[in-house]
Amino acid sequence: MERTLVLIKPDAVQRGLIGEVILRLERRGLKLIAAKFLQVSQELAEAHYAVHKGKPFYEGLVRYITSSPLMAMVWEGPNAVAAVRQTMGATRPTEAAPGTIRHDFALEVGRNLTHASDSPETAAQEIALWFKPEEIYPWER
Ligand code: CMP
Repeated sequence: MERTLVLIKPDAVQRGLIGEVILRLERRGLKLIAAKFLQVSQELAEAHYAVHKGKPFYEGLVRYITSSPLMAMVWEGPNAVAAVRQTMGATRPTEAAPGTIRHDFALEVGRNLTHASDSPETAAQEIALWFKPEEIYPWER
């Protein structure tokens, strides 16, 4: 069983797409085990996007992600990392496959609606960054 971090970023919140993203992940069979709605601090944004520091889009990305509230979640399931990324579609919406969230609802890479961990190792780091252990609620059917 795998876990992954999903962010419903400010553009998706502002466009009323929280339900759409959750619907698609639940329908896929993944389990929601943690969720919070928050405005992200500069410190958390910089830690989350540390790997992109120095890239041309980094400053704008941090400014954007801290500008308005987002929804952070942990999803669990078999191959959850790959399954969630497949449901989201390619980072660049114009390269995302039809039927994916980014294909169906986005056009710009800087407004690609969601973030999802890119490997089980990254997922463990990102989940620890965003959630305390006691904020995660595994449950069984
Ligand atoms: P995300 O999955 O949150 O991880 C890094 C983010 O950087 C990515 O989604 C995009 O939103 C953003 N990003 C990646 N490349 C670019 C780019 N060329 N211009 C602006 N934003 C980008």
